[in-house]
Amino acid sequence: MKFFVDTADTAAIAELYELGMVDGVTTNPSLIHKSGRDIKEVIAEIAQMVDGPVSAETVATDYETMVKEGHEVAKLGDNIAIKVPLTWDGLKACKQLSGEGHMVNVTLCFSANQALLAAKAGATFISPFIGRLDDMNLDGMELIADIRDIYDNYGFETQILAASIRSPNHMSEAAKIGADVATAPPEVIKKMAGHPLTDKGLAAFLDDWAKTGQSIL
Ligand code: G3P
Repeated sequence: MKFFVDTADTAAIAELYELGMVDGVTTNPSLIHKSGRDIKEVIAEIAQMVDGPVSAETVATDYETMVKEGHEVAKLGDNIAIKVPLTWDGLKACKQLSGEGHMVNVTLCFSANQALLAAKAGATFISPFIGRLDDMNLDGMELIADIRDIYDNYGFETQILAASIRSPNHMSEAAKIGADVATAPPEVIKKMAGHPLTDKGLAAFLDDWAKTGQSIL
């Protein structure tokens, strides 16, 4: 499973990128707002920093303006994935922009039918939002599994990009189901390294090591 990092925080991206943990980056209007930076400036900077796809989201709701915005953000780097919402106009924009050879990430997906439509419209990525479904007492992971089945049944090449990831558990569950990509906030990726038994075991080893009176260096 590829890891995208869901942030517009360039320092956090750089830290994970050095470790080989970043196969791409996703952003959205809320993350741009959180960064406090100009969208074009920050997206161009991120696109320079990483090799993989960098999703930049359009904000128009009508097809024509969405396509224009898509063209504009695509100029920010040669690895830009244009993000459009899963609305009828968004699907039309997806068809147009993917037909022109752009990577397109169709976002705000909450049903298997929406994912089927995005694949038919030529999406490079479909972004089902796991956490927001869980928030409503629904099963976000079940959606990932349904989309996996449907895409595999028909050989759709659209990649499942598990989004709205909130916990390390979401990451491992998405990987078990076979999501192609998961995008997570940097803190969730870092939390994946933690285990209380690792901490406990390390403390015990260090205790015993101290008793030996030895040093490696
Ligand atoms: O990738 C979409 C993601 O940013 C949404 O996450 O936590 O706001 O539902 P969240």
